[in-house]
Parts: sequence; C-alpha cells; structure tokens
Amino acid sequence: MRLVLLGPPGAGKGTQASAIVKKYNIPHISTGDIFRANIKEGTELGKKAKEYMDKGLLVPDELVVSIVKDRLTKDDCTNGFLLDGFPRTVNQAEALDTELSSMGLKLNKVINIDADSKILIERAIGRRICKECGATYHIKFNPPKVEGKCDKENSPLFQRDDDVEETVATRINVYFEQTQPLIDYYQQKGLILNIDGTKPIDDIFNTIVEALEK
Ligand code: AP5
Ligand code: MG
Repeated sequence: MRLVLLGPPGAGKGTQASAIVKKYNIPHISTGDIFRANIKEGTELGKKAKEYMDKGLLVPDELVVSIVKDRLTKDDCTNGFLLDGFPRTVNQAEALDTELSSMGLKLNKVINIDADSKILIERAIGRRICKECGATYHIKFNPPKVEGKCDKENSPLFQRDDDVEETVATRINVYFEQTQPLIDYYQQKGLILNIDGTKPIDDIFNTIVEALEK
C-alpha cells in the first residue's frame, strides 16, 4: 500500500497515520517528524529547517525532496509506505511522481483529511506529545489517563514550538496557499479519498480502512 496523507495542520494526519501503518505494516514517513528529529540532534538540516518551521513556513522544496527520495529507497518501503505531510507543494508532488515512476511504482490513494480552521487551531494548541514514543494526545479531545504523562511510557508530554496560536494561523494560511492545490492535482489522477476530519478518531480510521479495502 503506497499512501499519502494530505490535510491542514491539526487535521489528524499523524493520529491516523499511527493506526494505518500498524494495520498495513508499512513505514510512517513524516517530513515534519524527520525535521524535528534533526532539530533535536542539532544537525545542519535541523538548523536550516527550524528557521522556517518556527515561523510556520514551508521548508524549501530542495531540502525536502531529496530526503524523501532517499527514504523511499530503504528496504522497509518494499511493502509500501505512508507519506504524512509530503508532498506539500505541486513541485514536491511532481518530484514524487517522477521518483515513483522511475521505480516503476504508483500511489494507491491520497487520503485528504479536512476540518475547518477553528477546529484546527483548537486541536493544534491543545496537542501534547510523548518525548519518548511520540504518541499524540490532546488536553481536551484525547487526554492521557494521568495529566501531562504518556499512557504507555509514563514520561512527560511536551508541546511543539510551532503549536502556538499565531504560528498555527500562519501554517493554516500556508496550507491554503501552497498545499490545497494538491487536492485538484490528485483529484485529476483519480486518487483522492476525502475524509471528514471532524468525526471521532476511531470512526475516521474505520472509514479509511473500508475505503482502502474496497
Ligand atoms: P508537520 O509536522 O507535518 O505538521 P502539520 O502538517 O502542520 O500537521 P500537524 O502535525 O500539526 O497536524 P496533524 O494533521 O498531524 O494532526 P495530529 O494527528 O497531530 O509539519 C510541521 C512543519 O514542518 C511545517 O510547518 C513545515 O515548516 C515543515 N514541513 C513538514 N513537511 C514539509 C514539507 N513536505 N515541505 C515543506 N515543509 C515541511 O492531531 C492534532 C491534534 O488533534 C492532536 O492533539 C490529536 O490528539 C487531536 N485529534 C486528532 N484527530 C482528532 C479527532 N478526530 N477528533 C478530536 N481530536 C483529534
Ligand atoms: Mg502531524
């Protein structure tokens, strides 16, 4: 299964990705997570990416595309993959098409999760993440059993630097300007699966699986 998860910040891409990759035994490739790992390790890539991420802007295509191309050649991608947050510009989508066709491969589906801006802001601001395992919670919609602690690791939860209201608003605007055109791009290829991101987490997952297995 070769999948792309498309949608604005806070739509629930990461949340659904965790469940989808478990079910289909494919790697979860999140460009946002790759950049955050590089920032944590203090790499050159991390330093460059942070300049853009802290402002809510997209990291330049040339930095993103080569990372994904390289990642897709790894052994764990032979069964497929789930791309979360890539592509995000038409340029990136075209580069992905070129790379996949050179490998003799095609995408199976592009899952487009959507919700309105008010919900997206509330979700992003209330998001909390486990430092150890990356599990995602929400203070109101998906709280951990013990406040501020991961259910699995019992370790502290943190808030992303870009999950402050002003930056989230910029990220949403950037999505409308640069990423939303991809819905049409993939619609024309007959790949889009539109998902209502305002439904409960489990219902969304069941809808996605049902559609993928049709
Ligand atoms: P990235 O990490 O990809 O962030 P994003 O796209 O802004 O999306 P989020 O991770 O914020 O949201 P999500 O849809 O994953 O929501 P989640 O499931 O966590 O990118 C960050 C930055 O990196 C970008 O701004 C850019 O700078 C850079 N970048 C990354 N990729 C790039 C690329 N390809 N090109 C250029 N730059 C790139 O859910 C959110 C919250 O809601 C959680 O608390 C969750 O518990 C809750 N929730 C989820 N689903 C539901 C539900 N159904 N009901 C109630 N609550 C829910
Ligand atoms: Mg995410």
